Amino acid sequence: MNILVTGGTGYIGSHTCVELINAGHDVVIFDNLSNSKESVLDRIEKIAGKRPKFYVADMRDLDSIRKVFSENSIDAVVHFAGLKAVGESVAKPVEYYKNNVGGTLNLLTAMTEFGVKKIVFSSSATVYGDPAIIPITEDCPLGTTTNPYGETKKMLERILTDFQKANPDNYVILLRYFNPIGAHESGLIGDEPNGIPNNLMPYILQVVVGKLPYLRVFGNDYDTPDGTGVRDYIHVVDLAKGHVAAMKKFSDEPGVYIYNLGTGIGYSVLDIVHAFEKANNINIPYQIVERRPGDIATNYSDPSKAFRELSWKTEFDLETMCKDSYRFAKNALSGQ
Ligand code: NAD
Ligand code: UD1
Repeated sequence: MNILVTGGTGYIGSHTCVELINAGHDVVIFDNLSNSKESVLDRIEKIAGKRPKFYVADMRDLDSIRKVFSENSIDAVVHFAGLKAVGESVAKPVEYYKNNVGGTLNLLTAMTEFGVKKIVFSSSATVYGDPAIIPITEDCPLGTTTNPYGETKKMLERILTDFQKANPDNYVILLRYFNPIGAHESGLIGDEPNGIPNNLMPYILQVVVGKLPYLRVFGNDYDTPDGTGVRDYIHVVDLAKGHVAAMKKFSDEPGVYIYNLGTGIGYSVLDIVHAFEKANNINIPYQIVERRPGDIATNYSDPSKAFRELSWKTEFDLETMCKDSYRFAKNALSGQ
């Protein structure tokens, strides 16, 4: 298939482009490069042996999306483009709603105009809020989001569901990601957040390459085995392969399909610290500090639906995630 990947030069998008090319698909990327670099294309080409066609385009501008559809015969869209910094979304809600929600509405408009009926959307476990069930199944009721970023994901799930209802011959696949970490084994692509990272692994990487002095562990008084927050960390390559697997549904009945993409295993913050230290033979200085507002104690998936329906399950363990994260950090971040 000829797949349009929005946000394809970003962290998860770039890894997914590699897996789509490996699976024999053609890839067209559009990205406004607000949180990624054009040089990622060279890296995708180096890894996968094929260079995706690329447009610098902003999804807030409907005409620039139309141009991409008019110049390419697109079979399906994998939609990653979006802003994702939780703290920034609290400070700039209008920008987040305009970009994530407004941009996606433009995308759906263009897809309708050009008769493209298949979309895979990057959702997040954040839609479950403080989850009613652990491990979290797709039937778990959606929870209360604590920030505009999370709310855009919830709103977009609803918008895409309404869109499919109104267009019953369309396919909408909502993938709820748990916590992606790791990088391609080549060390060529990975997570490169701007500024001081919010998320755990990018923060650890800044500490180990000497850019930040120590890790702040946000609270050790949660109701978890060691008191620190528990999450479901998934290797980004496994996550990327989940997108290729999800596209199997495009040969099934049209409809809305929802899958958790996680490992089903919960690790605490200190588990991650110690696993990283062991895998890479390096010390991570840390201090226990106050809880971070909006954080929950425990969040991990039941990924069995994706296994049953897509034959997808994760392959990479925590040691590999830690090794691959560090390899990328040494390559990419130490030179900044
Ligand atoms: P990323 O920032 O690395 O990639 C997103 C890409 O979208 C970037 O390259 C950015 O330049 C581009 N983009 C943003 N706004 C755009 C616009 N208006 N027009 C065109 N391009 C635009 O982020 P990521 O970690 O790869 O996340 C990809 C998607 O997955 C996002 O929608 C994110 O919300 C979602 N997600 C990420 C995580 C995570 O932990 N990384 C977890 C759950 C869901
Ligand atoms: C966060 C976002 C979520 C988003 C996801 C992926 C919040 C409340 N949630 O999820 O909406 O979808 O990122 O982008 O921001 N931790 C530390 N020290 C740090 C960083 C994190 O101790 O410097 C802890 C956190 O308290 C948490 C765990 O590490 O227990 C994971 O945090 P993080 O990587 O930010 O992911 P989430 O909070 O799960």
